[in-house]
Amino acid sequence: MTPPTVSSLIRLVTERLTKSGIEEASTESRLLIRSAFGWSAIEQFTNLDDTPPTKHLEVLESHIRRRESREPLQYITGTTEFYSRQFSVNESVLIPRPETEQLVSLAIEFVRTQNIGDPKIADIGTGSGAIAISLALEMPSAKIYATDISGDAVIIARQNAENLGAELDICKGNLLDPLDGQYDVIVSNPPYILSGQLNSLQAEVRKEPILALDGGNDGLGVIRPLLANIKNKLKENTSAVFIEIDPPVEHKVMQMAQSQFPHGKISLLSDLSGLSRYITIEHI
Ligand SMILES: C[S@@+](CC[C@H](N)C(=O)[O-])C[C@H]1O[C@@H](n2cnc3c(N)ncnc32)[C@H](O)[C@@H]1O
Repeated sequence: MTPPTVSSLIRLVTERLTKSGIEEASTESRLLIRSAFGWSAIEQFTNLDDTPPTKHLEVLESHIRRRESREPLQYITGTTEFYSRQFSVNESVLIPRPETEQLVSLAIEFVRTQNIGDPKIADIGTGSGAIAISLALEMPSAKIYATDISGDAVIIARQNAENLGAELDICKGNLLDPLDGQYDVIVSNPPYILSGQLNSLQAEVRKEPILALDGGNDGLGVIRPLLANIKNKLKENTSAVFIEIDPPVEHKVMQMAQSQFPHGKISLLSDLSGLSRYITIEHI
């Protein structure tokens, strides 16, 4: 039976999501309804006392079932926010995380403090394109390249670039292989979860692509070859690498960076929770 008002529909959906163990059930219920009905927050608010439009109820029901089976909300609504912009996401790409925004800020800060007028920047393992596209839009004079080994991710990244009006080159390929020449900045948020921990991840995370998560037996399966080959892709003077890491492997990553860049300035930086989350290498 159709609930008499949008308010009562919100309550009903909230109850179903709560039963499935979803913590932010009330917020998610509103978001699922908005997305299924094509409403903005204001439209939903002004319709609270009205009868829900029946033509969208079937879509809503299928979205609720997907969420009850612990599919991430962002895959169902098809969108997520990163660096204050909306990016399309689906099951081919990692849902960009808030901590990765800091990687974007670090790269921008480096370019500005070093006064690099028209920087050449590469993003390795671009996924939805969140990092590369944000950099392109924040620094319009930059020449940005992005790579990903997943052809499906490259399709989404290119769609996001087009929708957001960003100009950059996005190529399918392994790590640095598609890149020509030398770069001022290379950024990456590579897969870094230990293979043995994949099964114990939160149900929603397990729905994200394995290629985006699996860092091999020691979590360094992608970072290791990336660091081993990165030096000859960097400009000789004043260039830098910014890589997001898993805090428990900070010492191992630090050692690898030191052996590749014995004269580089290498630092570990913390995320907003105080965990070592980024390694920066200044190759000066
Ligand atoms: C953790 S996700 C990061 C996605 C995006 N940069 C972000 O921060 O939201 C890692 C990405 O690296 C890609 N990837 C994994 N192995 C790769 C490789 N050998 N070469 C290039 N990309 C790779 C995956 O397909 C995935 O899109």
